[in-house]
Amino acid sequence: MISSTLDLIGKTPLIALTRVHDGPGRIVAKAEFLQPGGSVKDRAARAILLAARADGRLTPGMPVVEMTSGNMGAGLAVVCAALGHPFIATMSAGNSPARAKMMEGLGARVVLVPQVDGSEGQVTGADVAAAAAEAARIARDERGFYVDQFNAVEGIGAHEATGAEILAQHGGPVDGWVAAVGTGCTFMGVARALKAASPATLCAAVEPQGSEPLAGKPVSKPRHILQGTGYGLVPPHWDPALMDLGLSVSDAEVADWQRRLATMEGLYVGYSAAANVCAAAKLLASGRLAAEATVATVLCDTGLKY
Ligand SMILES: Cc1ncc(COP(=O)(O)O)c(C=O)c1O
Repeated sequence: MISSTLDLIGKTPLIALTRVHDGPGRIVAKAEFLQPGGSVKDRAARAILLAARADGRLTPGMPVVEMTSGNMGAGLAVVCAALGHPFIATMSAGNSPARAKMMEGLGARVVLVPQVDGSEGQVTGADVAAAAAEAARIARDERGFYVDQFNAVEGIGAHEATGAEILAQHGGPVDGWVAAVGTGCTFMGVARALKAASPATLCAAVEPQGSEPLAGKPVSKPRHILQGTGYGLVPPHWDPALMDLGLSVSDAEVADWQRRLATMEGLYVGYSAAANVCAAAKLLASGRLAAEATVATVLCDTGLKY
């Protein structure tokens, strides 16, 4: 028995995706969509708020404020409910309304921020900046704790634990690791843990085609379907030493892999999860790894959130 929803976060199963990819090599993926907020972001939400409570930046009953594409908001709404904090989320109007509904269901106040240059379902870096500015303003006005997920390093630490889980579940080092990048916490934390176990682990950051600043390319197509990732910017705490290569995926490839995961594995996941699996298959096909290599990734959220 567990005594709090907070204990439902993490320790997700590692699934071998042998139906969508039957070789050469193997793709294994963490089922992050099984967490109480329904995504990978629950881990960062819990880590950031517990650290802030521990050092007194977040006092009992204080409002928590954050800009979110929806998943961090759902994670924060879960953690805030369990810890007894009111939660206010700002979200670009371009993100899917299912996410606002979930946050509101968990007791959050959701403020939708008009888009700057994106469109419905396609959120750009400028849209995110506008939602972040609104969150910072509300936090100031309402004397709340501003989570500021892009600058909160606790999120990276939380994902070193995800990496440790992968190592334990796989029974030792993996050959490759791929993940799409929003704040970069997932990619960096896991890469740090996997490279500490085996420096030879090849770590690839996944970016939408045309929006690949991590690969050093100018952004030519800021709009894409990978909500929560690919903002066309290098995250503030980005550690380039953890990235061995970049892999890009097109919207059409992602939609195809999303359908394949649903119909062949019974896994109805979101776009970034499909992008990750598509990129894992590309890495295995690239010739950079041995034929029997294992590439790990994360299934970030469920397709029900779109
Ligand atoms: C659906 C989805 N996938 C991936 C990510 C990226 O995770 P991270 O911020 O750890 O890079 C996010 C972040 O919000 C997300 O919402």
